[in-house]
Amino acid sequence: MLTREAAGTWIARWDVQQEGYIPDREERFTAMIDALEAAAGRPDPLVLDLGCGPGSLAGRILDRIPAATVVAIDTDPLLMSLGRAVHADRAGLVFTELDLREPGWAARLRLDRQADAAVSTTALHWISGEALRVTYGELARVLRSGGLFLNGDNLSVRDTAPGLAGLDAALRERERERRFAHDRPEDWTQWWDAVAADPALADLRALREETSGHHGSESELLSAHTAALRGAGFGEVGTLWQRGDNRLLAALLP
Ligand SMILES: C[S@@+](CC[C@H](N)C(=O)[O-])C[C@H]1O[C@@H](n2cnc3c(N)ncnc32)[C@H](O)[C@@H]1O
Repeated sequence: MLTREAAGTWIARWDVQQEGYIPDREERFTAMIDALEAAAGRPDPLVLDLGCGPGSLAGRILDRIPAATVVAIDTDPLLMSLGRAVHADRAGLVFTELDLREPGWAARLRLDRQADAAVSTTALHWISGEALRVTYGELARVLRSGGLFLNGDNLSVRDTAPGLAGLDAALRERERERRFAHDRPEDWTQWWDAVAADPALADLRALREETSGHHGSESELLSAHTAALRGAGFGEVGTLWQRGDNRLLAALLP
């Protein structure tokens, strides 16, 4: 039986694991929510979180914008169950199991109004360039006119500026070495191995093996995301916040 307390401990451990890859993760969350507040145009925005995992960002959005509604989308039943257990008392947070690569996911949300914004962190690089066009095309259907999309991820320029991309990678590695010189956090594999050893998560893990899993890093290029967003009808597309290749790619619908 997964308790709220145990789920909270797993999510805290998830956040530390993710910070091992993205030392500026909290700063990036803060910048995203700043942009969300500035663009929402209302105190109760409807926001989608694409590839939400256990809801780290969704929870932070509701901490700062309590009247918001966040529809958090992912394919991973285990991560979403952790989020559901922790945020059970938050009516403004709904977890929905959908594959963002599949045509029709937007209609399956059955939203009663168009969303004001969508966010995503460290997730959409899992999706291939071809499928990304489906993902962003569907997104453009559910966002209102003027709606904002924010993608926080490490997006590389190695296709257009390989020298700079090499420097980005070097800086990222040095920053991690400096920051975690004495206390290296557990990595992705260690976190999942620890999950596998918890009997309270055995059923969810079995379900996850049937339905989900890491698909690899398919769309790490900034150019792939920019092209797919423009192809989906987004007008302005550009980087709003950046540290090396860790960036907040923003796009506005006309
Ligand atoms: C590294 S995790 C990041 C989770 C969360 N956004 C965070 O920052 O903590 C990537 C997430 O993307 C989800 N994901 C990957 N491909 C997806 C897809 N096609 N549809 C929905 N979710 C997907 C994974 O299941 C996973 O939860």
